[in-house]
Amino acid sequence: MRHKLVVANWKMHGNLVENKRLLAEYCAMLPTLKNTDVVVCVPYPYLAQAQAILQHTNIAWGAQNLSKDAVGAYTGEVSATMLKDFGASYVIIGHSERATAYCESDENIATKFVQAQAHGLTPILCVGETLIEREAGVMQMVVGKQLDTIFNTYGAAVFANAVVSYEPIWAIGTGLAASPEQAQSMHEFIRSKVATLDKAAATNMKILYGGSVNPQNAVQLFVMQDIDGGLIGKCSLNAKEFEGICRAAC
Ligand code: 13P
Repeated sequence: MRHKLVVANWKMHGNLVENKRLLAEYCAMLPTLKNTDVVVCVPYPYLAQAQAILQHTNIAWGAQNLSKDAVGAYTGEVSATMLKDFGASYVIIGHSERATAYCESDENIATKFVQAQAHGLTPILCVGETLIEREAGVMQMVVGKQLDTIFNTYGAAVFANAVVSYEPIWAIGTGLAASPEQAQSMHEFIRSKVATLDKAAATNMKILYGGSVNPQNAVQLFVMQDIDGGLIGKCSLNAKEFEGICRAAC
């Protein structure tokens, strides 16, 4: 059975004082969790702080983006090796809040995915459709295309040590989570798509659900067969709520 994984995505929230308090609360609550891995993805400037506070705990940390390039004259970018310097083990890639605001192409996202893996980081690849696409019934086509860019360039084996997070754009920050059935159906589609190319990768890979997860709906979402945990925005900023979500995954 796959271990559950719950990832906090703090987005652009926090400061040194607040983070210290929140991470201390995470540390106090989370070590007793069984069968659930916990990760917190912080803004770049706070990676050192996360490392200092979490390094001897069972909570891992990561970033919310990385450069597609390894090194060079790329002002403002942060490389995979820089993330590793601060002990990061995960990185979120292709989050819709970035993909739309910063025009990230599927090709760029695919390059970031393998750049992360090449440096020993586990990529958390975000995929998902807009409300218009769901209402038009083309959500599987949209998500399938997001995955195809990676399949076509790098094959399916790269998914064996990766995490995919299904985040319907209409569910992010809206309070309107996908139903467990809607999420399960997309997760099953993603896993079976990978399985047609690489069965072992499909069995190993974790598929998270993200979008308005809270301690209440987490219980129903996380029991679904292909939902291996969650990527949590707003509720990860409140230690009690985050704990509730982590416990739902146990
Ligand atoms: P919310 O949990 O705030 O809806 O955010 C989800 C998300 O975007 C996680 O990456």
